[in-house]
Parts: sequence; C-alpha cells; structure tokens
Amino acid sequence: MTPQFREKPRVYLDPKPQPNNTHPMGLNIISRRHFLGRTASLAAGAFTGPNLLLRGQDKAGKRLNLAVIGANGKGQSDTQGVTLDHNIVALVDVDSKRLDEAAKKRNKHHLDSGKEAPPAPKLYQDFRKMFDEMANEIDGVIVSTPDHTHYVAAMHAIKHKKHVCVQKPLCNRISEVRDMHSAAKAANLVTNMGNQGRTMEGQRLAKEWIEQGAIGTLKEIRLWTNRPIWPQGPLVKKAAECPPELNWDLWLSSEANEPYFEFELPSGMDPKKNKRGNSVHPFTWRGWWQFGSGALGDMGCHIMDATFSILGQLIPEQIDVTSSPISDTCAPVWSDLIYHMPAGKHAALKVSWKDGSKNGVANKPEISPHMTSELAKKAFEKASSGMMFIGTEGTVFEGEAYCSSPVIYNEERYTQVRLDMKAGKIVKTEARSAVPNNPQGEWAHHIVNGGLPASNFDYSAPLTEFVLLGNLAVRAQQSVQWDKQNMKVTNAEAPNKFISRPAYRDGWKA
Ligand SMILES: NC(=O)c1ccc[n+]([C@@H]2O[C@H](COP(=O)([O-])OP(=O)(O)OC[C@H]3O[C@@H](n4cnc5c(N)ncnc54)[C@H](O)[C@@H]3O)[C@@H](O)[C@H]2O)c1
Repeated sequence: MTPQFREKPRVYLDPKPQPNNTHPMGLNIISRRHFLGRTASLAAGAFTGPNLLLRGQDKAGKRLNLAVIGANGKGQSDTQGVTLDHNIVALVDVDSKRLDEAAKKRNKHHLDSGKEAPPAPKLYQDFRKMFDEMANEIDGVIVSTPDHTHYVAAMHAIKHKKHVCVQKPLCNRISEVRDMHSAAKAANLVTNMGNQGRTMEGQRLAKEWIEQGAIGTLKEIRLWTNRPIWPQGPLVKKAAECPPELNWDLWLSSEANEPYFEFELPSGMDPKKNKRGNSVHPFTWRGWWQFGSGALGDMGCHIMDATFSILGQLIPEQIDVTSSPISDTCAPVWSDLIYHMPAGKHAALKVSWKDGSKNGVANKPEISPHMTSELAKKAFEKASSGMMFIGTEGTVFEGEAYCSSPVIYNEERYTQVRLDMKAGKIVKTEARSAVPNNPQGEWAHHIVNGGLPASNFDYSAPLTEFVLLGNLAVRAQQSVQWDKQNMKVTNAEAPNKFISRPAYRDGWKA
C-alpha cells in the first residue's frame, strides 16, 4: 500500500449529525448504529488497513496522522508528546466535558509553544465509530483509557493495521497482553508502552553500573510505592446518578453493562484523606480488578521496569504474597510480594515489592545496609516510591518510580564510579532513546524513521506479564509458580481463573 502522509489534516465534519449526539462544540458525534447503517456495504471484511506505513521510507519531516483514545487524563500529556510534530486527526473520550477540555488544552499547548492553534481534530465518544468512519485516515493510535479498555481499543487499532502506543500496564489480564503482543507482531506494527522510565538515561546508567561491577555482586532488589493514593480495599458499590456528560455504557466498554455506581469508602479510611472522590470515573477505577490492576498494576510497570531490564527480562519462578484483606472486586490497601528470580545475568535472587501503608505508616522496605549516612537516610525517608539494587559492595538507589536519576551508596563508591566513567573504565553499553522522556514521541519517531521504540511490545508485554503475575498471587492470596510456556500457574488451580477476562460484551472485541 502507498503510505498516506498528509501535511494538512482534514477536518472531519459529517453533513448529517444525529440530534441526540450533536457535540456541544458543534462537531458531529454520529450514532454508531446510524453510521453502520450507512456503511453496511463497506463493513464486510472491514479491517483492510489501507495506509499501513512503509517504515523507514521517505523520512524527512513526515507528519503522521494520529488518534488518541482516552483524550483527557494522561491522554492529554500523551497528546502533547506528539501534537507539535504530527497531526492529531481524532480525539476520543467518553466524557463530553473532558473531551472538549482535552481539545482546548491541546490548542493551548500549541499557543504556549509559540505555534498556531492546530486544525481541529474530529471528536468522538466511541472509538469503534472512529475506526468505522475514518480508519483510512489514521496512521497510529495512542490508547490512554482506563486499563480495562486498553485491550479492546488497541486490538481495534491493530486489526485496522494502525501502529499503537498503549499506556501502562498494556492490559490488566495476562492473556490479553499476550494476545495483543502477538497480533501487533503479526501485523508488523510499531508499538510502544507509555512507561516513560524506559526512555530515560537513568535506567540505562543503573544497568551499566551494575553489569560493570559498580556495586559488586547483585544480591537483592527492594521496590516500594506509597500507592494506592486512591480508595482501595473492600469497597462497596452504591447506586448513584450518572453525570450527564459521561457515556457510562461506553466507559464500561467490554465489561457487562450495569447501572452507574459510586462507592462507600472502606471503614477506617478518613474521608478527608480521600482527594480522589468516590466514583470510578475519572482516575479512581484503579483499585477495581474489573477496571484497573491495583497499586501493583498501576506502578509496577514503572518501578519494576529497571529491575526487569537489569535482570535480563526474566520471568519469576515463584511469587509469595501477604496483603491486607482483598475482595472479589477490589485490590488490597497494602501488599508485600517476593518475586523469586532465577539465575540469568545475575545469580538467583529475590525482588521484594511493598505498596500502600499499614495503620497509617508507609509500607517501605528496610533501608539498605550501604545507606548509613544522614544524606542517604534522608533520601530514603523522602522517597514515596523507589528502588534499591543491593550488591556486595554498594547499593544503586532511586527515590522515585522511573529510575530517572539513580545514585550509588555509599558516597565514596559513587565518587569512584563517576571517576571510572570519566576514565572510560565504566562505559555506556545500552542503546539510548531517540526521544528521551517522551514514549509517544519516541514511538512516532520510529514509525517515520524505522527502528524500534525501547518499550516496544517485545519488551513491554513480558514486563507487563512480570507485573501482573504478582496480581495472580494477590487475588488468589497464595504463592504462585508460573509455567511461562503454557501460561499457567502450576502449584494451584485457583489463580488460573485470573489470567483471562471472564467475558467480553458483544460488539467490543475486534
Ligand atoms: N505513564 C504514566 O506516567 C501514567 C500516568 C497516569 C496514568 N497512566 C495510565 O494512563 C491510563 C489513563 O489513566 P488516567 O489516570 O488518565 O485515567 P482517567 O480516568 O483520569 O482518564 C482516562 C480518560 O479516558 C476516558 N475514557 C474512559 N473510557 C474510555 C473509552 N472507552 N473510550 C475513550 N475514552 C475513554 C475518560 O473519560 C478519561 O477522560 C491508564 O492506563 C493509566 O495507567 C500512565
């Protein structure tokens, strides 16, 4: 197929907007049924993917036509990562207020950057309708919805042969991650996950230091986060009125339809400490197994990223768990996990994960024995999320989630390592990102120029699996042993029911 690069995006206005779906900004939101009716003859064998890009060709100055599904929330900054260099031809959000806001904020970003306001994208509430209507006009799709919709949205894009950049975690079920990975690979698409740490310098430095002996022999890894910073633990649903701007049915996407709900805060949770409200939309879906993946799923793809890379992308043999009470519906207030890692680049070792807080006290690991100075203790105390790679001679410490600027303790050793780097005794061995700190920009860069983004699905699918394996243990409340080949827990049957989503609503699976 011929690549269809366009310097000017089209403005997509439908001549016959449907009365109930007219968008407040005057743009059309056509009903899906109406659209399907009009295009029934086109629907057969729908996924033809006519503008699959020929990668690496015709490089200079190419602007891609991109769509963003889940345009507000994280989708806003994801859009900002590409909008100055590419054409945003469609924004999709199930909340009409948030959709308008996302479109306005994008314009503001252009103006703040000293550029003209860009041509208006077409606005949609239903991504399926967008694909039905304008798939041929799109080169790539960014998915930044709540976790439960990543799979269905990205699979629609993949089936239409669109390059995809999907927020972390790729999906909230292991079987979906694998399915999405193999579908994107079979279609030869450029993929990336939104774990920005993977584009950063710090993660690479940490790996190079450890591999080149800066901390002696790596013995243990300790990871932690203060998340959840949203209501989690056994939450009870209560009936509530759906805000008029939210299309709840579309928000649920492939999940079974149920009336809109809010929830009671868990007993013991101080309502004043809950800054996130008590409805699942926006943001607070994270603690619900149906929609999110708990604190581990939310932060694991960041905090476990450097670990996964440093250990050579290995999958654990066993994971042990203790946690606060869970329910069938919601993730716990805190959890402690031990990932037992097999030998690979390093000897077999344990990776511990701690999240949340216990009786109001942050659930953090013990500080490394190499962090004895006042400076080190303060850095550890301050770190609401972080990681410690503990070796026989020193510790690589990072006091945030992305491993953007790791340091080594004790301080003398760090000084020596920096001298060794200057003297060329410790060298850079890892490939650097073409667009640091911007996974969406990095993804677009590689669509145009060829090559692979650092968190392409060959990397990020097993990383997401690594993270989500912990949730099998949390949900089943027992240790799990994993047979990677057969995608199966081998030491018990109960955890296996959490590998896949139980059901998809009709009309949502691509
Ligand atoms: N990489 C990072 O640092 C980072 C940070 C925050 C969030 N995230 C990820 O980004 C994703 C979104 O998180 P968030 O905090 O922005 O959530 P959010 O709920 O605040 O925002 C999601 C947006 O998607 C919209 N939406 C929901 N369902 C949709 C659907 N079916 N179709 C189209 N739009 C839909 C919502 O209306 C909302 O505007 C999650 O996967 C999250 O893990 C990543």
